[in-house]
Amino acid sequence: MSDLFAASMHGRRTRLAAQACVLHGAALPFEEALLQGVAGIVATAPLRHPVTPGGHVMQVAMSNCGDFGWVSDRRGYRYARLDPQTGQPWPVLPPCFLQVARDAAAAAGFDDYRPDACLINRYAPGTRLSLHQDRDEDDRVAPIVSVSLGLPATFLFGGLARGDKPVRVPPLQGDGVVWGGVDRMRFHGVLPVMPGRHPQLGAQRINLTFRKVR
Ligand code: SIN
Ligand code: FE2
Repeated sequence: MSDLFAASMHGRRTRLAAQACVLHGAALPFEEALLQGVAGIVATAPLRHPVTPGGHVMQVAMSNCGDFGWVSDRRGYRYARLDPQTGQPWPVLPPCFLQVARDAAAAAGFDDYRPDACLINRYAPGTRLSLHQDRDEDDRVAPIVSVSLGLPATFLFGGLARGDKPVRVPPLQGDGVVWGGVDRMRFHGVLPVMPGRHPQLGAQRINLTFRKVR
């Protein structure tokens, strides 16, 4: 077994950096429960295409659950306790979301992970997410746990500087990616989602990213 691959309780794991790794297939056993959770959340806090501070409508449709939700509008990016669209608190993190996030974090070496936010991103085929850092959280050490469901997409994992050439992580489908500690501020993004049909989700990719905001 090469240095890059090691067994974890969730199966195969690929190390991306000192404190970052891919957990192959980590979400597959929980796919149905996670998708039911998503359906419940978006029934209360509908998916929407936020506007960037620069006035562009984002290609990715978003919603949130947890104590905080990531929002964007002409005033900027930030976390908010209330969904600006409904005026209500975001739906609570379903227990299966918390379990998957905690297990993935632990498998990547981060014990006792307590996320307080989960951003739900929905990508139609062709939709991409350009390289960015997750920098709106107060906690910049606790890991980001990303869980990908539905259509596959290549994940880009970059360095700590925008200009660092990212590695291409082979298409994620049912996989987890975890980055924290010294690698928490790595740039990352997603290449255009491949066309196709997923048995449960049809022509969509859904990504959950767990964060610790406060
Ligand atoms: C994100 O960076 O918020 C989402 C990443 C992904 O969709 O894989
Ligand atoms: Fe991100």
